[in-house]
Formats: sequence, C-alpha cells, structure tokens
Amino acid sequence: MKQASDFPSLKVITHPLVQHKLTLMRDKTTQPILFRQLLKEIAMLIGYEVTRDLPLASQPIETPLAPMNAPVLAQPVTIVSILRAGLGMADGLRELIPSAREGHIGLYRNPETKQPHDYFLKLPADMGCAILVDPMLATGGSAARAAQILLDHGLTPASIRLVTLVSAPEGMQVFAQAHPDIPVYTASLDERLDERAYIVPGLGDAGDRIFGTL
Ligand code: PRP
Ligand code: URA
Repeated sequence: MKQASDFPSLKVITHPLVQHKLTLMRDKTTQPILFRQLLKEIAMLIGYEVTRDLPLASQPIETPLAPMNAPVLAQPVTIVSILRAGLGMADGLRELIPSAREGHIGLYRNPETKQPHDYFLKLPADMGCAILVDPMLATGGSAARAAQILLDHGLTPASIRLVTLVSAPEGMQVFAQAHPDIPVYTASLDERLDERAYIVPGLGDAGDRIFGTL
C-alpha cells in the first residue's frame, strides 16, 4: 500500500500535539463534546501550517511612534466546509482567521454506491484563497467533487488547499489523480479502507461523532 512519500501533494502534520489529540479522537469512548473540541484544536494547529505561504501585501499605517508600511494578507481567505463533518474543522480555522469568508458544499456519500451526491452549495463571490475542509478522505470522491466545484467557480488549483484529519491511501490516490496541483494537509495517512469504504483504523463516522447521530 502507498505511503505518504508516494504523494508529492500530501503533507502529513506530525506535530506531537496534533498526534496526541488525534489519538484521543480515535478512541471510541470519546464523547461528542470532547470530540468536537479536539477537532477544533487540531484544525487550529493544522491551520498554522496550511496558511504558512499565504501571500502578503504592504499597507501604510501609523503606529503611535511612526508611519510604516506593514504586512497584511494580500487576498481574502475562504473556509469551505464539506457538510456535515467539515463544519467541525471550520470551527477551529474560524478562530485562527476571524476575517475569513465561509462557503458550504453539501455532499453525502451514498452508502451503496459510495458516490458523492450534491445537496447544497453556497460560496462567496470573491473567495481568494480557499481552504477546503473535511475530516475524512476515504474513497476521495467527496473531496475530489468539492474541489471540482471550486475550480468550476473560477479558482485555480494554486488557490485551493484541502485539509483533512484522517486520509486513506485509496482516497489520496483518487484525489491526487484528479487534482495533482492541489496541496493536501492531513494529520494521518491511515492503513486502508474496509469493505464499507470506512477508513481503518480511522475514527468511525466523523459526522456522527461530531453531531451525536450514532
Ligand atoms: C463523510 C466525510 C466525507 C465523506 C468521505 O461524509 O465527512 O465527506 O464521508 O468519504 P469519501 O472520501 O468516500 O467520499 P458523509 O457522506 O458520511 O456525510 P456527513 O458528513 O453528512 O455524515
Ligand atoms: N466517512 C467517515 O466519516 N468515516 C470514514 O471512515 C469514511 C467515510
């Protein structure tokens, strides 16, 4: 099975705090209230890495002592959640980037076909840099479809980045094949998919664990 080094567009965030919190999330006894809190905290930590190369512009300001040209973000940032589970990651990124705009792409995976089905779409007009969030990259169908929707709305691959929590090698393969120039950030490339296309070892159904719909 493929490893992280087989995917040039993949960056695994190995920070000890991210890994520790992910272990707590994987534990099946972790309840939704803690699961949501941990997801938010991990999203903030990953967000630091994801936003590292955002372009800066210079803006004239006056400090109490002197005028200066100071750095500011050069373009808007838009957090795009894949519903439902992406909302749990958006909570953390919103705290990190309070000025961010937000978009929502409603997709659910048909349990029989495993194919994504669209049911909602609302995106800001000027997205700038889009951070697409969904904790689970399983078959890769949902993330690949959501990225295509952003491209169809005029974004370039360079202005999109995908952030997941747990990824399957199978899903990463599908996503990288469809969108080789979109960087992917994840906390873990897990072992494989099971026969229901759930990630193993994974953490179960992220949406159900966030919203308590088990
Ligand atoms: C989950 C998850 C991803 C998708 C991943 O959502 O949040 O969106 O499955 O699977 P894929 O990579 O095989 O497409 P789900 O469809 O269960 O919807 P939910 O978030 O509303 O529970
Ligand atoms: N969706 C999830 O929430 N978890 C998986 O393991 C696969 C798809």
